[in-house]
Amino acid sequence: MKTRQVVTNKFVTVWRGYFRKRVDMVKILNVVGARPNFMKMAPIIAEMKRRGGEISQTLVHTGQHYDDAMSGAFFRDLGMPEPDVHLDTRDGTHAEQTARVMMAFEGALAAERPDWVVVVGDVNSTLACALVATKLRIRVAHVEAGLRSFDRTMPEEINRVLTDQLSDLLLTPSPDADENLLREGIPQERIVRVGNVMIDTLYRQIERAQRSSILDDLRLIPQGFAVLTLHRPSNVDNPETLRLIFAALGEISRELAIVFPAHPRTQSRMREFGVEPPPGVRVMDPLGYLDFLKLWSNSKMTLTDSGGLQEETTALGVPCLTLRENTERPITVEQGTNQVVGVDHERIVSAAEAIIANERSKFARVPELWDGRTSERIVAALLSRADQQECQGERAATIEM
Ligand code: UD1
Repeated sequence: MKTRQVVTNKFVTVWRGYFRKRVDMVKILNVVGARPNFMKMAPIIAEMKRRGGEISQTLVHTGQHYDDAMSGAFFRDLGMPEPDVHLDTRDGTHAEQTARVMMAFEGALAAERPDWVVVVGDVNSTLACALVATKLRIRVAHVEAGLRSFDRTMPEEINRVLTDQLSDLLLTPSPDADENLLREGIPQERIVRVGNVMIDTLYRQIERAQRSSILDDLRLIPQGFAVLTLHRPSNVDNPETLRLIFAALGEISRELAIVFPAHPRTQSRMREFGVEPPPGVRVMDPLGYLDFLKLWSNSKMTLTDSGGLQEETTALGVPCLTLRENTERPITVEQGTNQVVGVDHERIVSAAEAIIANERSKFARVPELWDGRTSERIVAALLSRADQQECQGERAATIEM
């Protein structure tokens, strides 16, 4: 009897301690939705786990990307925990996708009622979740805030501008991003320059990636090939543009093989338009993070319209040709290995030929704060502001549904 009493008392004490600790913890809800979000969120989750006593975190996957190749493979490669909540919203038009994420996320958010919602990047899920959280008066932190292409025909640009306007804490990768935000009227006290969180993942995974057998599997030798990625609507939704790009790549591929892990939207557009890549371009399904890192880091150059790859190639000093007319990441051109060549045949071919001939002597360096410790600065910024009851206006004590 006495023993049972002691055990019960001990249980009550432990439970009270646990409960008090939980109450003191900062509740953070992290959102991912599409492929480029996963490598940004992985180190943030790991850092929050490291500071586990101070934070209780929940991971929500909106399901914008749902294929194993676009989502599941990244969770495995990056050692991410299974999402606590999966909204399984899938695709549709931009309005449908954004609306579906908003509707599903509202319920998840009301159930959790976190201190912070953390969104990353510029995909539809980023904006949808930031909008829902703001209307429920829950604070939003945006990782990779302030990037601007100044091209409003890009869906991602609309997502960037609006997410930044809604967010309470703007975590930026570079000085240009800070300047863009200040110009748009965001108060300085809401901006914290933390560096580039994708580079945390890159540095953490580079050694593991070198163990991938992808080069042998594809019978490639280091520096003996180029890597291509292409999925922007402006490049792949128009058959003429796609043909123009492929014509330039055909010329390059006579000198250097091109490997092309193709995004599902690009594969379906190529089928729909009946546009075939030239023979020297090897098309394959999208690769996981580690295989892809091994591939591009051993390539002679990358040709891409992806934002993330412009940054990653800069961090490792691999030449990058951006097949777009602009970039929201100008620091990769000013300081890094990136050259914006658009979709003009001559510009693409002559820039590629200079790289093949090793004529390219562009001075390149890794930008400040792209040092693998950005996730630590992000979590520190969230915790240091956790006590503030409000950032943008008064926060309601209860959430009315
Ligand atoms: C989205 C992001 C873009 C990001 C890109 C990276 C927006 C506005 N765009 O573009 O910023 O660079 O992801 O991948 O959010 N699909 C599949 N399987 C999947 C996911 C998509 O087959 O797992 C197909 C869809 O059916 C659709 C197409 O790919 O036909 C486009 O997907 P969507 O999520 O709408 O946008 P992305 O073009 O991938």
